[in-house]
Amino acid sequence: MMTNKDLRSFREEYTMHSLDESSVPPDPLVLFDRWLGEAISSKLPEPNAMTLATVTPEGKPSARVLLLKEVDQGRFIFYTNYESDKGKELLHQPHGALVFLWLELQRQVRVSGPVSRLDAATSDAYFALRPRPSQVGAIVSPQSRIIGGREELEKAFEKRWNDAADQVIKRPAYWGGFALVPGRIEFWQGRESRLHDRILYTNIGKEWQISRLAP
Ligand SMILES: Cc1cc2nc3c(=O)[nH]c(=O)nc-3n(C[C@H](O)[C@H](O)[C@H](O)COP(=O)(O)O)c2cc1C
Repeated sequence: MMTNKDLRSFREEYTMHSLDESSVPPDPLVLFDRWLGEAISSKLPEPNAMTLATVTPEGKPSARVLLLKEVDQGRFIFYTNYESDKGKELLHQPHGALVFLWLELQRQVRVSGPVSRLDAATSDAYFALRPRPSQVGAIVSPQSRIIGGREELEKAFEKRWNDAADQVIKRPAYWGGFALVPGRIEFWQGRESRLHDRILYTNIGKEWQISRLAP
């Protein structure tokens, strides 16, 4: 068992990189692309993993990890079950916050803004690209609902798998993509003595305002 005393003594100094508002690109998506590219080339596990926070109808926060599948026309795209908790929460309160953590590079990126469903054709195209087991898995899982046991899920998978035989598996209407349009993107770079760099981009129409936040 890890004691609190042990945790209190954990301390890393961050000295790898820095971030300066006078030299960052005017477009945060250029910087995001650079940082994601560096996370990929550094061979970090699941470099496109991100925490998505949503709001429940009762106004409570709700968060989980997802995979970013694309940045398209400035929108952050991810896929899920529309009838899952997050799916319902996003339909009720269409705003989300994303957090990317690339610890090995001492970096965090926070993105927030309105979220909407992707059009059906784009979701269809992505679903068609998924490996067949992932397609069947997405279809048979009533994501976020309580189920009787693992066996139930495996049976449903096997049945759907056999029923499909060699046919093309179509995307079900309850599964698809969401697109988050960033209103704010914050880049956090760990620095020495906890004097980290935080560069915030705020969307003002076609342009981005760049500011520095205290760490
Ligand atoms: C690394 C990682 C990647 C994940 N990617 C996805 C994803 O892309 N889509 C998804 O629906 N769930 C994904 N999950 C599962 C979610 O974290 C979550 O368990 C699920 O979506 C149900 O969330 P909800 O009940 O809040 O709707 C991923 C989990 C992990 C740990």
